[in-house]
Amino acid sequence: MDLTTYLNEKRIIIDNAMREIFDSFHTVPGILRDAMEYMVFASGKRIRPILAIAACEAKEKSIDDVLPFACSIEMIHTYSLIHDDLPSLDDDDLRRGKPTCHKVFGEAVAILAGDGLLSEAFRIMTDARFTENINPRILKQIIFEISSAAGAGGMVGGQVMDVLYEGKEGSKVIVDYIHAHKTVAMFRASVRVGSIIGGARGKELKNLTKFGESIGLAFQITDDLLDCKGDEEVVGKRLKKDTNKQTYVKHYGIEVSKLKVEQVIEEAIKAVEFLGERATTLTQIAKYIGSRVH
Ligand code: IPE
Ligand code: IPE
Ligand code: MG
Ligand code: MG
Ligand code: MG
Repeated sequence: MDLTTYLNEKRIIIDNAMREIFDSFHTVPGILRDAMEYMVFASGKRIRPILAIAACEAKEKSIDDVLPFACSIEMIHTYSLIHDDLPSLDDDDLRRGKPTCHKVFGEAVAILAGDGLLSEAFRIMTDARFTENINPRILKQIIFEISSAAGAGGMVGGQVMDVLYEGKEGSKVIVDYIHAHKTVAMFRASVRVGSIIGGARGKELKNLTKFGESIGLAFQITDDLLDCKGDEEVVGKRLKKDTNKQTYVKHYGIEVSKLKVEQVIEEAIKAVEFLGERATTLTQIAKYIGSRVH
């Protein structure tokens, strides 16, 4: 199957599963539900949940077990975008091709929509309706993976450093820290969750983890490059906004940044060679991340 067809198929599966989750919210105030749905069902690429699914499939497991976790990961990611766009963080007015959540619903509701998505993501993972087939030990491990990646020692920690170093000189060490935490952590967790549910352990899991880390770094460097060179219409968010930020482009320059993307994509592909033919989709996704324009 070609990658575009694969990605479209998986996006539909993920969106249907998230629709089912939202349909189970009966006691949520209307405006909060609207604000959460507004950003969740905007045109996100769904790359993190797709990676969780693809990693699980690479181990020849059906996707039913991984799907609720894939949705939770996308809900946590969407919360991080809503908060990232707030005036006190990146102060953005365009996201996923639409006005940002706080522009439409106001800051208070946008903050609370993010809070709601984060907490609901953890409820979904522990709701018997969605995850009753998961071995409790595995379930605990997955929740640990996702909470560590999203939390203070992961994405939130990276976001703090991103904001703290805005307008500062910074350094390569700082930008490496920021990228590893604000973006790589969730990519790593997405691949690990799919792999663990697929049954990967030991050396296999280590290699798949390396794959997740490498494509996560390539993804954020490309995000930095798109801020300089991308097309706002295509990307769906404001560009040329990172001039005061700690970006790869600032510390390494455009050419080295492009080379680094190529290098880490190669490393990612190498890390999953052990899967043989079953690495095909992961390899295609890695190449797509290395050449994406949005
Ligand atoms: C944006 O993530 C935040 C970054 C880590 C660069 P995506 O580029 O995956 O955003 P969506 O989900 O497709 O909107
Ligand atoms: C955000 O990084 C990463 C998150 C955890 C949301 P950016 O601030 O570079 O993401 P964009 O460019 O706004 O999507
Ligand atoms: Mg940001
Ligand atoms: Mg931002
Ligand atoms: Mg960015």
